[in-house]
Amino acid sequence: MNLNIFDRLESEVRGYIRSFPTLFTKARGAQMHDESGRVYIDFFAGAGTLNYGHNTPTLKQSLLDYIESDGVVHGLDMATAAKKEFLEAFERVILKPRSLEYKIQFPGPTGTNAVEAALKLARQIKGRTNIVSFTNGFHGVTGGSLAATGNSKFRNAAGMPLGNTTFMPYDGYLGEGVDTTVYLERMLQDKSSGLDAPAAVIVETVQGEGGVNVASFKWLRALEQVCRRNDMLLIVDDIQVGCGRTGSFFSFEEAGISPDIVTLSKSISGYGLPMALVLIKPEYDIWSPSAHNGTFRGNNLAFVTAKAALLHYWSEREFSAVVRRKGEIMEGWLEHIAQDYPQGMFSVRGRGMIQGLVTENPKLAAGIAQRAFEQGLVIETSGSEDHVIKLLPPLTIDEVTLRHGLEILEHAAADVLGVQPQQMNKIKFINFGSTR
Ligand SMILES: Cc1ncc(COP(=O)(O)O)c(C=O)c1O
Repeated sequence: MNLNIFDRLESEVRGYIRSFPTLFTKARGAQMHDESGRVYIDFFAGAGTLNYGHNTPTLKQSLLDYIESDGVVHGLDMATAAKKEFLEAFERVILKPRSLEYKIQFPGPTGTNAVEAALKLARQIKGRTNIVSFTNGFHGVTGGSLAATGNSKFRNAAGMPLGNTTFMPYDGYLGEGVDTTVYLERMLQDKSSGLDAPAAVIVETVQGEGGVNVASFKWLRALEQVCRRNDMLLIVDDIQVGCGRTGSFFSFEEAGISPDIVTLSKSISGYGLPMALVLIKPEYDIWSPSAHNGTFRGNNLAFVTAKAALLHYWSEREFSAVVRRKGEIMEGWLEHIAQDYPQGMFSVRGRGMIQGLVTENPKLAAGIAQRAFEQGLVIETSGSEDHVIKLLPPLTIDEVTLRHGLEILEHAAADVLGVQPQQMNKIKFINFGSTR
């Protein structure tokens, strides 16, 4: 595969091309095709952006119709028909059935921009600068979001001090049975703890980039109580695990918490088009007009596909059940890998259709992901040491393809460990043949 132009011309900052060194030409559903006609199963889904798969026909048709009709493409934050219809659909399909009341802000169309807006707003509301974020949290790579991001690889690239944020241990960080919200509250209430009073806490219910760390519902509820008792806002960053990834539309629904601010991006447009939202409890919507602007905050093509995705997938309750069922298949298969390949010393964690195969050795994780790619599976690693293989297939993947992907992963693990696959070893695991 000739990738010379990328090596020669594209900045050294490029990342995923290094993990998946091929020239992708087209994609559909849960499959990607490369220049040579090879087909890959996608367990990466644009890092959680393609929850409904690549080029989903219903969404594509809505986009084609809109473009054909000369619908407004770029609208800043002017009123457009596409935006109106998205707002109506979001209210009807998402907010009302969940009895949620949020005002909706459209920041620039990236996750980090939504986080920046959320942090700015929280600081304005409380008149305080400090924010509490959590170990292994990832919130984006612009100044404010980066300050709330734990991983030193990203932090070291800032080239300036990152401040106004205090890190606290996430659920499980100090081992099982330690409720880290107790520590947080003790720090908040002790005037000599050195912790500056925070405006807000920002948290992911499942840390995606941080290594598929899952907060328990109990911990999330305790965190909410700490926020209420200590006059801090609760911001849930649902950019990676929202839009159905854990089963429910919002990842915090089952925990029964009520965040003051929610950030959404990635899969909200449903089609991989850039879009982001900040949901704000009405009493906290104290923005002055245009105080947080952005040229591309009116990406109407994204509004069109976002509306189509909400209507298509979220009008009925069924979709959540399907996601949970496929999540169980994934978890079950990973548990089998963990049990039947003790040499790997694997463990498994996740919720819904974000699952992680945790290794104790980053080289093993990298080796398995690389071998899986060679065998036709696009999958990435995450976590502080890149030691967790993260499974993030489209929620719409059919069960046959899902199982096929899991098989490839198992075979890759067996290969790297130098043992025979325990299960399904008679099945030829990747040969979709030419797509041309
Ligand atoms: C939880 C979370 N927040 C924020 C971001 C940043 O989003 P973006 O890369 O679109 O800026 C990400 C990206 O992975 C994320 O997972």
